Amino acid sequence: MCGIVAYAGVRAATPILLQGLRKLEYRGYDSAGIAIHRKDGIKIYKQEGKVSNLVDSLGDYQHDPDHEQAHVGIAHTRWATHGPPTTANAHPHPAGNGRIALVHNGIIENYRGLKAKLAAEGHIFLSDTDSEVLAHLVDHYYEGDLLEAITKALKEVDGTYGIACICEDEPGKLIVARKGSPIVIGLGDGETIVASDASAIISHTRQAIYLDDNDIAVIEDGKVDIRTLDSSPVQRDIADIDWSADAAEKGGYEHYMLKEIFEQPEAIRNAIRGRVDAERGTAVLSGLGLTPRELVEFHRLLIVGCGTSLNAGLVGEYAVEDFAAMLGEVEQAAEFRYRNPIVGSKDLVVAISQSGETADTLAAVREAIDKGAMVAGLVNVVGSTIARETGRGIYLHAGPEISVASTKAFTCQVSVLLMIALKLARGRRMSLQNGRSIAQKILNIPSLVERVLAKNDEIAKVAEHFVKFENMFYIGRGYMFPVALEGALKIKEISYIHAEAYNAAELKHGPIALLDENMPVVALMNKGPGQEKTVGNVEECRARKAPVLGVITEGDDEAREACDWVIEIPECPHFIATIVATTALQLFSYHVARLRGCSIDQPRNLAKSVTVE
Ligand code: F6R
Repeated sequence: MCGIVAYAGVRAATPILLQGLRKLEYRGYDSAGIAIHRKDGIKIYKQEGKVSNLVDSLGDYQHDPDHEQAHVGIAHTRWATHGPPTTANAHPHPAGNGRIALVHNGIIENYRGLKAKLAAEGHIFLSDTDSEVLAHLVDHYYEGDLLEAITKALKEVDGTYGIACICEDEPGKLIVARKGSPIVIGLGDGETIVASDASAIISHTRQAIYLDDNDIAVIEDGKVDIRTLDSSPVQRDIADIDWSADAAEKGGYEHYMLKEIFEQPEAIRNAIRGRVDAERGTAVLSGLGLTPRELVEFHRLLIVGCGTSLNAGLVGEYAVEDFAAMLGEVEQAAEFRYRNPIVGSKDLVVAISQSGETADTLAAVREAIDKGAMVAGLVNVVGSTIARETGRGIYLHAGPEISVASTKAFTCQVSVLLMIALKLARGRRMSLQNGRSIAQKILNIPSLVERVLAKNDEIAKVAEHFVKFENMFYIGRGYMFPVALEGALKIKEISYIHAEAYNAAELKHGPIALLDENMPVVALMNKGPGQEKTVGNVEECRARKAPVLGVITEGDDEAREACDWVIEIPECPHFIATIVATTALQLFSYHVARLRGCSIDQPRNLAKSVTVE
């Protein structure tokens, strides 16, 4: 999704803005631009395509006095929503004959009406974007006070925004604002670096202020003055960003995705550290802020999320029913928000989001809060909007996930969901003995994942057989069905192979019609309940000449015989195998995509953080 970087300070703005844009590349984008306040006024540079195109177009900016003396600027990577990814549609957008420049993340929903009104007044638009309309609206209200103009403009727009804006008549000043789209203000020594994502500022400072919705911040001379849209001054806490700059780099791996797959044992250790009480056979989840008594009173655990987070949520649904004999339900966040859901005070709603910024999940959170439910966040990015709006929840502590394809977030999400299910179960009918057994199994997850990672080379070899296919099926039952969903999602997003996931029982209700030698099937057939049934389904697939890759339990020769190729995982119960088998399928997808020469960390059309619905 779009990214914002802005700078006001004592150093040359251009290199800092460009460096920030590079840090945001992982989010997915299709054009980039900067605006700097030079001695001779605001100058905008923008290009279609990669940040490197923009850098090339700037020539020798490092030795150009115009750039060296520009200490204020704004920058943007755009992920097209309104209008194609062209240079004209790239941000920053100028207005008022170039006296104002603005970058915007989010969507201005009433832009058409505003555009017509402004056009009638003589404003000339150069792009198809909703963002340019906002720049002109600021210009429309500008009478020598940028803050006042922005405040008036923002009061008139419907939709979401994170913005950064500069004005030629007010050199040295940078104004940023947010509603529904994150803005983090990094506080340096006599300088301020703003971004839509902390990864763009951590190489400069760890001290940061996260704006709340409806906040506007005026940044000048190293000072940050925040007020709300109704002009009341407000103080926001200064947070410490605990991600190291190193954690956001590739660390010797060819791709972030591979690095993040290999980080999983450590990430899961961090996610479960101090949260599993092996002695009492339960979980300690103080972030939920709920007493055991309060937990018992909930009738249902309702989980909302999107994409990979949704797939993790399905494991949570199964686990809460399995462990706690409690009603569990998972719902795609956009469906939840738009269908007037039945939810209330007897529900514990858990919103799962790696980024904590996904628009649909955030809207689902707000809907559940408005309907009186207790809502907790299961979020990775500290200080993100969902984390703050839920006000309670469990951080994953997975560290920054840079690759667009989510990996370590999923396995950490499932680990935390298993702990939630254990906690809910122990407050109900689960015995101390069973609780201890599950707690111990959760503690063993990291070492099981390490055993799968040790098979990386073998999995890479298996992947060679799949490079040529354009379609695939993934099948599983029970707990292994969400794994099939996540396996199919991973392969389609990074290798562009069309993949569908089915509950294995569903095959013969239609999809089996597609099976032939060109439709390989990945079957989750590790030992556990339903395995023999899945093996039976695999036989049906092979009878139709479909090649089969089985994810099987180590040493299970019978299952091996039913397959063309296998990936072996260590023996473990299915609820743990959700993590272990998914790790194997992440590696499988990674190698297929690598062998197909795909752009792994930045797959086409995808964005890391989906802040528009
Ligand atoms: C898939 C992927 C997406 C995200 C989804 C939700 O690899 O990354 O499907 O899982 O966009 O994102 P979060 O978890 O940030 O809410």
